[in-house]
Amino acid sequence: MKLQTPEELRSYKWFGLDTMKGFSHRSRMKQLGHRREDFTGKPAIGIVNTWSEINSCHAHLRERAEAVKRGVLQAGGFPFEIPAFSITETYMKPSPMLYRNLLAMDTEEYLRSLPVDGVVLMGGCDKTTPGLLMGAISMNLPAIYVPAGPMLRGNWNGQPLGSGTDLWKYWAERCAGNLGIEEWEEIEGGIARSPGFCMTMGTASTMTALAEAMGMTLPGASSIPAVDSNHVRMAVDSGKRIVDMVWEDLTPARILTREAFENAITVDMAIAGSTNAIIHLPAMAGRRGIGLELKSFDEISQRVPVLANIRPSGEYLMEDLYYAGGLRALMANIGDLLHLDALTVNGKTVGENISGATVTNAEVIRPRDRPLSATGGTAVLYGNLAPDGAVIKTSAASANLLTHAGPAVVFKNYRDMHERIVRDDLEVEENSVLVLQQAGPIGGPGMPEWGMLPIPHKLLRRGVRDMVRVSDARMSGTSYGTCVLHVSPESHAGGPLAFVRDGDTIRLDVPNRTLELQISEEELSRRRAQWVKPAPVSPRGYLSLYTERVTQAHRGCDFDFLETAAVVPEPEVG
Ligand code: FES
Repeated sequence: MKLQTPEELRSYKWFGLDTMKGFSHRSRMKQLGHRREDFTGKPAIGIVNTWSEINSCHAHLRERAEAVKRGVLQAGGFPFEIPAFSITETYMKPSPMLYRNLLAMDTEEYLRSLPVDGVVLMGGCDKTTPGLLMGAISMNLPAIYVPAGPMLRGNWNGQPLGSGTDLWKYWAERCAGNLGIEEWEEIEGGIARSPGFCMTMGTASTMTALAEAMGMTLPGASSIPAVDSNHVRMAVDSGKRIVDMVWEDLTPARILTREAFENAITVDMAIAGSTNAIIHLPAMAGRRGIGLELKSFDEISQRVPVLANIRPSGEYLMEDLYYAGGLRALMANIGDLLHLDALTVNGKTVGENISGATVTNAEVIRPRDRPLSATGGTAVLYGNLAPDGAVIKTSAASANLLTHAGPAVVFKNYRDMHERIVRDDLEVEENSVLVLQQAGPIGGPGMPEWGMLPIPHKLLRRGVRDMVRVSDARMSGTSYGTCVLHVSPESHAGGPLAFVRDGDTIRLDVPNRTLELQISEEELSRRRAQWVKPAPVSPRGYLSLYTERVTQAHRGCDFDFLETAAVVPEPEVG
């Protein structure tokens, strides 16, 4: 393998040349206390860190960046930390998804404009993984991902609590009048006990697992709990490895082939991953010029069993998955379904990385002959209500509702739903289909996680815990229920979801992969002609850019002008 020379490093243009600009760049490094030999002719490693004091999932990343720097220095590189836009799932309204593309742009532009030869990406809370990776894929400098790691199991009265999943579960009990304020506060104090991201198989655990599956982390990195000392060592090792990756010029373009993305989809199905992956993976692949069709998810889903027994589809939590052997062991169980020759950041193949990995708890990572479900956890639906597709997480749905027809109860937006869902005079029955409009990429805006519409309170009191729900929104990966999501095109853009009225019959048929509004074609055309396009969501700023240029869910909600593998132009350094 031919290695890069010091003079071939990208940073050499900033630090190595005897020019006036070179003088300026070096003098400012000296201002920071570095000697010329510290930074010239050495791989300059940008550590893009999404730490922030309001991002509880990343509370440890400030300190963990020091471990990465230690590794970079040990391997002969020159590290510097770059604070990036920190997307916190808990606090950002109306939807952190609005800002995934902003983080991707932030990452790409930092890397483009600064003297960076290689990059360590640090994140984990839902949108940070795809956002960081999308930016790094576009810039195509050697890159390695350091996942923040899941938090420890929650605890209440000796019972393990799972992020999100147990919140929804106990909130339903509270709404039904079965939980008092004291118990509620105990749960509040026990559900998030340490730094790290949500420890159910939500979007964070899913996307970090997929980053590993597609070869962008060191093997085993995604399963390590955030506060485990192994996490510190993984961060040091990642820092060491990125320096060698720079000399080897091991870029994302060499790792992220179609096979790598197919490995990610296969693992997504085996872990019953979050439906959000079906948005983020096409967006990431789009940055490589690879078209990932929704139907690939369905096709792969049909041949991959669910083996990870993790909430919300299963019983255990991410800490248990780690002790059971972690993602390497799970991938070894489905080795025959993976592209084993795919290259990864450590320079080895997927096959080499999972070789010898064993499961130590067959309840948490099920064997192939005793899966949680024989096929993957996700189905893609088409029909006159979703011409470009919709998605349902079958593993988290009620089996008896997967084939269902019922009258629609339509909420015209989130506020309407919020106000009426609690009312006793809401005309709704157990077999109704709840419909939420104006919750898509443009209408939300940002496709908020409103897709698990609450069960109407009057039905909760009657013991109803699941119903068919249909929307153009997303759903948290920690959620569950028979929720049809990502209906595309969305209602705000004139998709058929906009034309549904109270009392229309909606038919869901998951075995046949269809979602139909049972009205005539003439009636649908009549309603389309009467439809009045809603006013723009925002007249100014980032929201205006977002709503004008975001693509629909089936294309990944990237900006149309970034959905390309075109080479990012290098700046004139001078
Ligand atoms: Fe950060 Fe769930 S709130 S991963």
